[in-house]
Amino acid sequence: MPVSRRAVIAAAALAPLARRAAFAAEPLIRRPIPSSGEMLPAIGIGTSRRYEVEPTPDRIAPLKEAVQTFVSFGGTVIDTAPSYGTAEDVLGAILAETGLRQKIFLASKVDSTGRDETLKEFERSLKRLKVETLDLVAVHNLIDVTDNLAVLRDLKAAKRIRYVGVTIWRDNQLDALEAVMKRESLDFIQVNYAIDNRAAAERVIPLAAERGMAVMTNVPFGRDRLFKAVQGKELPPVAKDLGCTSWPQVFLKYVLGNPAVTCPIPGMAKAAYVEDNLAAARGKLPDAAQRKQMEAFIDAV
Ligand SMILES: NC(=O)c1ccc[n+]([C@@H]2O[C@H](COP(=O)([O-])OP(=O)(O)OC[C@H]3O[C@@H](n4cnc5c(N)ncnc54)[C@H](OP(=O)(O)O)[C@@H]3O)[C@@H](O)[C@H]2O)c1
Repeated sequence: MPVSRRAVIAAAALAPLARRAAFAAEPLIRRPIPSSGEMLPAIGIGTSRRYEVEPTPDRIAPLKEAVQTFVSFGGTVIDTAPSYGTAEDVLGAILAETGLRQKIFLASKVDSTGRDETLKEFERSLKRLKVETLDLVAVHNLIDVTDNLAVLRDLKAAKRIRYVGVTIWRDNQLDALEAVMKRESLDFIQVNYAIDNRAAAERVIPLAAERGMAVMTNVPFGRDRLFKAVQGKELPPVAKDLGCTSWPQVFLKYVLGNPAVTCPIPGMAKAAYVEDNLAAARGKLPDAAQRKQMEAFIDAV
């Protein structure tokens, strides 16, 4: 049957919707939070830098589209922090406008010193995010970690937050993180981990598995470091075997190939990035031999 030009155009216009429906039908890989058994979709949104915009409708619009796309594909985890400029305000506006709060696993942080200041900072985060409670609050970069964890545990006992954690993002913080993990009981850690930045997998990520802590991983692309490294390079055969159609999917599938990782949180401020990156949490993940091949490829570029 001849197909009219109009029908072709209509089909093309429907393609993203059809793709979205197909994606929605294939659930995202989910991983458990060890302390509760609650399952989380295995990729979240990080909001540092790109969500730090003036909270005006035109600046918020593309970010709102990214969050809506994320939720429509089954994503729930969003990570922010009071120190990310206006990111909490921007996210608060998006959640209020879209009514999506109940579908989000909302994580923020504290980085104050002293009980009163930390409590004030927490209340300010709730106000900025326009929410009553937070799912996870982590001590940012281990700042005043012992005292801040005590405050967060009180907030958890009062049911104002559901989970407690700590974060770092540089290799020179790994030893300090390890010491905290050995002496404290934590629901989550957040640590830097990428295909070309693997130090966290040596001791800290295995320790999290042993101690029953969920692992969020930050900076999975090294911001633009990995993109620069592979610029102009074709995907290696192992990436194609895994069904990857882009480099970001390769980088994220590598991280998720570590079974002790719960949820990488790449910065995603565009709907197209969300669609691309969430595809990494579907289908096959690399086994140990495939991960070695991926490491060898990256180490050689
Ligand atoms: N101490 C801490 O607790 C700590 C420290 C650092 C980060 N974090 C958390 O980790 C999150 C992630 O870190 P990050 O955002 O700095 O670094 P990242 O996730 O390694 O890189 C994010 C950047 O990658 C690019 N990108 C993402 N998806 C893409 C795609 N599909 N195709 C092409 N480019 C893509 C975007 O660049 P462009 O926007 O330039 O296009 C984006 O800004 C942060 O947002 C934050 O939530 C926590």
